[in-house]
Amino acid sequence: MQRMPNAIQLTDLTHDDLVRLYTYPAEISAPFVRVNFVTSIDGAVSVDGRSGGLGTPADKTVFGLLRDLADVVLVGAGTARTENYGAARTDAGLRTRLHHHGFGGDAQGTPPRVAVVTASADLDPNSRLFTDTGARPIVLTSTEAATDRKQRLRDAGAEVIEAGEHTLGANDIREALGGLGLPRVLCEGGPGLFGEFIAAGAVDELCLTVSPLLVGGSAGRISHSPTGFPTPMRCRHLISASDGTLLTRWERLHGHE
Ligand SMILES: NC(=O)c1ccc[n+]([C@@H]2O[C@H](COP(=O)([O-])OP(=O)(O)OC[C@H]3O[C@@H](n4cnc5c(N)ncnc54)[C@H](OP(=O)(O)O)[C@@H]3O)[C@@H](O)[C@H]2O)c1
Repeated sequence: MQRMPNAIQLTDLTHDDLVRLYTYPAEISAPFVRVNFVTSIDGAVSVDGRSGGLGTPADKTVFGLLRDLADVVLVGAGTARTENYGAARTDAGLRTRLHHHGFGGDAQGTPPRVAVVTASADLDPNSRLFTDTGARPIVLTSTEAATDRKQRLRDAGAEVIEAGEHTLGANDIREALGGLGLPRVLCEGGPGLFGEFIAAGAVDELCLTVSPLLVGGSAGRISHSPTGFPTPMRCRHLISASDGTLLTRWERLHGHE
């Protein structure tokens, strides 16, 4: 039987407490996939097609902290296009400290890289992904994608990696990121990419914010995939903010890999 942890009040936590609550495991031999999403109480993944309408100050705090802790921000092309992704802005001092204590980060405090998964390589080389860069962007794509598109993205400064023939499997993505020496993976969605990771049994952890909102409408859920793969999870912590936002961290139960 699982015991739910008691809710912690966000106001009782210092920034260092939050860092400790969200640090990746100390010893990571293969890429560790943490996924982060925000949802409404009724399960909507977006408001008017964007996730911004679900955000709260507490969610923004954790969203930023998770980026501070990661080696790479992994995102599907649908989300990168809809949300106009650019570089990750992170806390250089914290990243340097994490590095010195063996928890990732970076000796120079440079931000995590952003890796976009796209079967088509149909990304705009003039978009923020390639013009607003803190660290060299990565494009994980297919051998099938048009050669001229891939070349345009290389010319725009991206490291373009072919990691699949048609679409990319979650394990191929993990392998590619492992090959780049980026084991602390933060997947920020979207639902298509998350669904692929669930179906492949490749999710280690989900950080889920529940925003105190009902949305209705036709918004989708946080994951979708052609086939399901029920994966038992355990709640690591539950943090409650004064505006009603719930910050949760779920880890995969051992024995269900
Ligand atoms: N609430 C939240 O926290 C949150 C987080 C993220 C996104 N969102 C919302 O989710 C919506 C976007 O949903 P989405 O399902 O389109 O997002 P998505 O998963 O980011 O994008 C789907 C696209 O990503 C590429 N892709 C995903 N998995 C792939 C794979 N295994 N192999 C190859 N390519 C793959 C494909 O790009 P190509 O078409 O280029 O081949 C595919 O069309 C937006 O409304 C966004 O605001 C919400």
